[in-house]
Amino acid sequence: MDEKLPPPSPEEQERRLEHERVTRRTFLMNVGIALNVLVTVALATPVVGYLLGPVMRRKDYREWITIGNAADFKPGETTLITYRNPFSDPWDGDTAKIPAYVRCSEPGNFTVFAINCAHLGCPVRWFSESQLFMCPCHGGIYYADGSRASGPPERGLFTYEQKVQDGKLMIKAGQLPTLRNRAGAAPCPGAAPPKAPALVARIESCPSTKGPGTSTSTIG
Ligand code: FES
Repeated sequence: MDEKLPPPSPEEQERRLEHERVTRRTFLMNVGIALNVLVTVALATPVVGYLLGPVMRRKDYREWITIGNAADFKPGETTLITYRNPFSDPWDGDTAKIPAYVRCSEPGNFTVFAINCAHLGCPVRWFSESQLFMCPCHGGIYYADGSRASGPPERGLFTYEQKVQDGKLMIKAGQLPTLRNRAGAAPCPGAAPPKAPALVARIESCPSTKGPGTSTSTIG
């Protein structure tokens, strides 16, 4: 026997409608809140990063890395090497490879030059025949010890801090050596010890003790 349910009373119908309305309104309100939170986070993240940047930033992007066996660098030779910037990311690819020149003046005595000219940063080339570094951009020339020979550069080539440890030649790599972060590592011959911090102790060339038009070591 087909038994039909009685239709809901008007009060019951009204109650069900109200329940549906509240449920839809609550859902839309939650979606709105979620969207607002997302937009707020998206907008605030770069602003917070910008404000906290100076606090979180590392002061010194340099660390010791090995560039080869000390015994592999022959006395009297200047060798072009390439190292990988220790603060690079895997996706930096070849842009993280940085060239430098290693000079071994005598066994155990090394100087590692930044390849960039001290004038405007062009890569200098080493010519073993003339024992000179030459810059192709504006004709800057440096002696084998990195000191300025002639041309626009006002100082010698910049050098890296280096040491030999367990037979390995190591340099402090990361930021390229410049006047700002590396000058003054080697004081001028006969000069009084610098009062300023070692990183910024000497920014001008040393007085010349060579012939006219030359300057002695301005290696930073
Ligand atoms: S960049 Fe080397 S001389 Fe100007």
